[in-house]
Amino acid sequence: MDDWRSVCTSATLLEGKPLHFPIGAVDVLVVRVAGAVHAINNLCTHADACLHEGRIRGHRIICPLHGASFDVRTGAVLAKPAIVPLTRYEVREIDRSVQVLLPRTIT
Ligand code: FES
Repeated sequence: MDDWRSVCTSATLLEGKPLHFPIGAVDVLVVRVAGAVHAINNLCTHADACLHEGRIRGHRIICPLHGASFDVRTGAVLAKPAIVPLTRYEVREIDRSVQVLLPRTIT
């Protein structure tokens, strides 16, 4: 059985304004871009800066520390110095709630 965790209301998640939520041992960043909601790991793979403090430009999130950028839809690296992609999480909106699907390793 899938384990969906409600993290915030849909109204709380404003366009282009990332929020982050601890889920188990993972800090998950949730952001709405062009109306769609995306969820990725909040820690930059370069040196663990918190990405929710970065800027959103289209589907790109830019790390506030050294400027690496990632695609919020896939976690893919778009610009160095990061070279490792971010983990992406399944996310959905149901009944005005934003929910993230927990990875099986999180309890
Ligand atoms: S910590 Fe993100 S680019 Fe260095």
